[in-house]
Amino acid sequence: MRTVPERRIVADFLVHNIGELLTCDGSKDNRLGILRDATVRIKDGKIAHVGRDDTGSHDALTPDTIVIDAEGALCTPGLVDPHTHPIFAGSRAEEFDLRVRGATYQEIQSRGGGILSTVKATNSADDDELVQSTAARFERFLRNGVTLAEAKTGYALTIDGELRLLKLLERARAQTAVDISPTLLAHVPPPDQDRKQYVARFIEELIPAVAHEQLAEAVDVYCDAGAFTLDETRAILSAAKAHGRMLRVHAEQFTRTGAAELAAEIGAASVEHLEELGPGVEKLLARAGTVCNLLPGAALTLKLKWPDARRMLDAGCRVALGTDCNPGSSLTESLPLMMSLAAMQMGMSCEEVWLAVTRQAAHALGRSDAGRISAGARGDLVLWDASDHREVVQHFGVPLVRTVIVGGELAFPKE
Ligand code: NIG
Ligand code: FE
Repeated sequence: MRTVPERRIVADFLVHNIGELLTCDGSKDNRLGILRDATVRIKDGKIAHVGRDDTGSHDALTPDTIVIDAEGALCTPGLVDPHTHPIFAGSRAEEFDLRVRGATYQEIQSRGGGILSTVKATNSADDDELVQSTAARFERFLRNGVTLAEAKTGYALTIDGELRLLKLLERARAQTAVDISPTLLAHVPPPDQDRKQYVARFIEELIPAVAHEQLAEAVDVYCDAGAFTLDETRAILSAAKAHGRMLRVHAEQFTRTGAAELAAEIGAASVEHLEELGPGVEKLLARAGTVCNLLPGAALTLKLKWPDARRMLDAGCRVALGTDCNPGSSLTESLPLMMSLAAMQMGMSCEEVWLAVTRQAAHALGRSDAGRISAGARGDLVLWDASDHREVVQHFGVPLVRTVIVGGELAFPKE
């Protein structure tokens, strides 16, 4: 595995001859903010200028400016993945094979497999192994056009173990160009500990420590049969709110628990999954401004019903798309594949899909300077082997990413 120096060289870029530029910063009739024959200038790690090819961005080129001729290609913001579980060890390929032959995810979980088998492997892995495997996952995200990803813990299930995972995530982040937004996840109650005591320690020790050391920007709870109850979820999220963390909830994936209503009521930044969203709840989420993070990879892998994106969008919800990258229910780093699935199976238009992996996903992470190409935003962009943004959604399962710039660094391909 390659070692990357922690200090990166941030260059000055001029990307010109862009056939179609999605700024994702548009108006009502051009929500994707499409510009043709465009130029983007990046300086000091930020977008400095966006305009037509003939508007003077060539001014003040320095000998160090790297000029990239896009040759008419599509250029978009770096993709933002608002939901991943990237830090884990071990493999669940055997369980995958059992599932494709008919066993259910919850049967495997109740036999001590599933999440618990990953917990075992993760807690026995050494720090360097976890850092290297997580950094390798971030590199795969990068090759798929992702420049910012949310990243959850959740495979330790002890107070010290979850803190360890947050610190290792920080080390993995330093090894790749992808930026992350770390989240502390209350995944499932540990079967070998007193449940009440674990929830109490999560609230009284773990959340305050995480907030004090600024180790996570958000706290997420998996509320479902076999995971945390609605009351436990409320108690954990209330503590996280009191400690100034953003809130997320894995809600209504297998059973309808009322967690989505709770997310709206408590002002969660995002609510995840929603395959079983109850009637009318989309209106509460729209009013609360809670982003619906929909995860087609989990629905595909577990043969769940597709989340009803159309109902949420029609109610005025903010809808984002994530990979849910994890070792059990969605082992993928391909956000472009999620975009195709959402369009093909969940009733989303290409425009809605693009907004879901840029502006809306950035909103879920509270990062208003990501997911758009406009002056002052982060210096992230992707050039694609396509000339029309709809082609990236239609042409599925193959890598179409040509070039990725993150924070003013040429991150892919490596020079
Ligand atoms: O988001 N739903 C709960 N957690 C993960 C799956 C984790 C696993 O199977 O390891 C999810 O799908
Ligand atoms: Fe998840």
